[in-house]
Amino acid sequence: MIHKIGRNDPCWCGSGKKYKLCHEAFDAKVDSYRKKGIKVPGRELLKTPEQIAGIKESAKINVAVLDYVAEHIKAGVTTNDINEWVDRVTREMGGIPAPLDYEGFPKSVCTSINDQVCHGIPDDTVLCDGDIINVDVSTILNGYFSDSSRMFCIGKVSPEKERLVRVTKECVELGLKEVKPWGFLGDMSQAVHDHAVANGYTVVREIGGHGVGLEFHEEPWVGYNGKRGTDMLLVPGLMFTIEPMVNAGCQEIFVDDENDWTVYTDDGEPSAQWEIQVLVTEDGAEVISW
Ligand code: MF3
Ligand code: CO
Repeated sequence: MIHKIGRNDPCWCGSGKKYKLCHEAFDAKVDSYRKKGIKVPGRELLKTPEQIAGIKESAKINVAVLDYVAEHIKAGVTTNDINEWVDRVTREMGGIPAPLDYEGFPKSVCTSINDQVCHGIPDDTVLCDGDIINVDVSTILNGYFSDSSRMFCIGKVSPEKERLVRVTKECVELGLKEVKPWGFLGDMSQAVHDHAVANGYTVVREIGGHGVGLEFHEEPWVGYNGKRGTDMLLVPGLMFTIEPMVNAGCQEIFVDDENDWTVYTDDGEPSAQWEIQVLVTEDGAEVISW
């Protein structure tokens, strides 16, 4: 049996206001889209102000950890060193690194170099002049999740790699501009894809972003090959990541069959990824972690 909230009952969002004075009209609006056959987020995906505050505290750690990595990363350090920094700084600030033991992932951060697309596992690999590396950091604080990643260029990288890193960042920025209430997830996807393709690149299809906040990975799945005006309705309170993997060469990828985690480009050409965590607000979007 489903209990409809009474109009005079407290609103589900936790505001303490009566439902009729708070989210009743909002729910009716979402429902009108649902009736038209548009995919809409369930209420459990819409973050309340209290949850948003908690997620922002988590994100403070995530951003500080990535800032720490940015200050210390250079040729000669190993990906294990990065793992040690991320684990230590996260815990010093009271957080827990979300990747550790997540579905058996053995380390506290993902480090993906050159033709590694994502889910690189820190080890004794030494960073060399000319490498590009994605460092993907995710934090749990009081049960709230944050998730973002950045690229770093080690020493002097080739102009080709530098351009790939820059254009991939632009893809995320252009995608972010499309995030607005009552728009569609596909608006973002197409903006990301179009910019990558216009620059001669391909976008990985099989792996995407995700809802995030109360869990590491929530609905919706966030792809970057979708079309404008399609996919989930962007409703205020929805929170997800924009994290396209852009390949310099072909789109095809494979998973390391020894560790079952690390994803590589088929052709050995480099791949880049930036990730931000975004909240749909009443008047646009707010970047929660970067
Ligand atoms: N941080 C990755 C993401 O953006 C999650 C990787 S799962 C892990 O979704 F276990 F490898 F960390
Ligand atoms: Co993510």
